[in-house]
Amino acid sequence: MKNKIIAGNWKMNKNQAEAEKLISALKPLVKDSKNTVIICTPYLDLEQAVCLTAGTNIHVGAQNCHWAESGAFTGEVAPSMLKEIGVEYVILGHSERRQYFGETNQTVNARMKAALEAGLKPIVCIGETLEERNSGRMQEVLATQIKEGFEGIDEEQLRRTIVAYEPIWAIGTGVTATNKQANEAIGFCRSQFEELYGKDEAQKLYIQYGGSMNAVNAAGLLNQPEIDGGLIGGASLDAEKFSAIVEAYKI
Ligand code: PGA
Repeated sequence: MKNKIIAGNWKMNKNQAEAEKLISALKPLVKDSKNTVIICTPYLDLEQAVCLTAGTNIHVGAQNCHWAESGAFTGEVAPSMLKEIGVEYVILGHSERRQYFGETNQTVNARMKAALEAGLKPIVCIGETLEERNSGRMQEVLATQIKEGFEGIDEEQLRRTIVAYEPIWAIGTGVTATNKQANEAIGFCRSQFEELYGKDEAQKLYIQYGGSMNAVNAAGLLNQPEIDGGLIGGASLDAEKFSAIVEAYKI
C-alpha cells in the first residue's frame, strides 16, 4: 500500500525568521508520520530549510527552476544550483506560473527534463479552469497537459516525478473539489498515464490533489483510492494546520 505525499507550497510567503519559526514548530508535529512530508519554500529560504530539516523526515523543494544549466537568463535559477544546496524537489507548472508568467506545457516540459537531469524530483502541476470544467472540456485539457508536458519523459524519469492535480477554481478560493470530483479527475489523469506508460507505471505514479485542502477536508480526500497526497498552499503556512493534514492519513 502506498503512503501519501504531503507537500506544502509556501508560494511567496515567509521570510527567513518566519521560515525558521515554522520549520521548528513543524518538526516535532510530523516526526512520526509515515507519509512523505515536503516543504516548498521561496528560493531565499531554501538553504536554511535544508539545514533545519537535516536528519528529520521533512524534505525540501523549490517552486520553480529554469531549463538551462547556466547562461543569460536574468532572474532565473538553474536546477543544479538547487541540487547543490541540498534541495530534493521542485514544483513545476503551477497554475500561478502558467497564468502570470507565461508558462506553457512546452516550458514545463523543458524545465522538467532539466530538473530530472540535475537529480531533482519534479512535482508537476496540471488542472482545469472552471470555464473548462463547465463547458465539458476538463478531460481534453488534462489529457493535453499530460501529453505535451510529459513529451520525451521515459519510465525511469516518471518514477522520480510526482503529479499534482490542482483544479484552478479550487486554488486559494476555499472551494475544494468534492472527494468524488477529485478522485474522478485523478483517475482520469491516471488513465492518461496508463496509455503513455502502461498500467504498472501509472499505478505506481503518485498523483496529489491540490486546491483548498485543509485540516477538515484532508481525511476525506486522502482516503480516496486515486488520491496519493496533497499539495497544500494556504494551510501549509501554519504548523498546526499543515501537520493536521499530514496526520489525517495513517497507513
Ligand atoms: P491552496 O493552494 O491550498 O491555498 O488552495 C494550493 C496550491 O496552489 O498549490
